[in-house]
Amino acid sequence: MIDARELRNALGHFATGVTVVTTRGPSGEPIGVTVNSFAALSLDPPLVLWSLAKRSWSLPAFEAASHFAIHVLASDQQALSDRFAKAGHDKFAAIEVGQGVANVPLLQSCTAVFQCSVEHRYDGGDHVILVGRVELLHTRSAAPLLFYRGRYATPEYEQPPATGLLKLLLAA
Ligand SMILES: Cc1cc2nc3c(=O)[nH]c(=O)nc-3n(C[C@H](O)[C@H](O)[C@H](O)COP(=O)(O)O)c2cc1C
Repeated sequence: MIDARELRNALGHFATGVTVVTTRGPSGEPIGVTVNSFAALSLDPPLVLWSLAKRSWSLPAFEAASHFAIHVLASDQQALSDRFAKAGHDKFAAIEVGQGVANVPLLQSCTAVFQCSVEHRYDGGDHVILVGRVELLHTRSAAPLLFYRGRYATPEYEQPPATGLLKLLLAA
């Protein structure tokens, strides 16, 4: 029998980036949640996936949504990650948003944005797995925000990325 806390700790050894996934709720309200379960899935067709806890406040919105946008955060967007990691509905207060495909709210200054239509939803234990088909994408060269063993980390980042050295600096 695997202990849930031990499993969570072990999974934390897998360093990830940090994303915020957004959509619109049934009444048109903006919805967003901080997510590090994002993963590339397929190049042809262009598919990505992420998973959302079934106990999340935003689950009904993502279960009904036809589209969502995945924002890969830059190293200076930790506050945005914290804001969207709290349950509730007022996460967009005083945030400037753009309008994406199907009116999905778009956050500014991220390193990559994948605008997706919902291709599949699967049961995943205490999570729902959402598979998106990438309809539009944007990228911007910037150092990424990382998450490792329950803490944020930022890399030392040199341009251009092809020759840059990444060195982990754990956030205090
Ligand atoms: C770095 C980080 C990554 C996270 N990744 C996920 C994730 O992949 N899936 C998930 O359901 N929650 C994830 N969370 C937790 C949610 O952001 C958090 O439960 C949030 O309150 C959900 O918002 P909601 O309850 O308004 O839907 C993550 C939190 C942090 C800080």
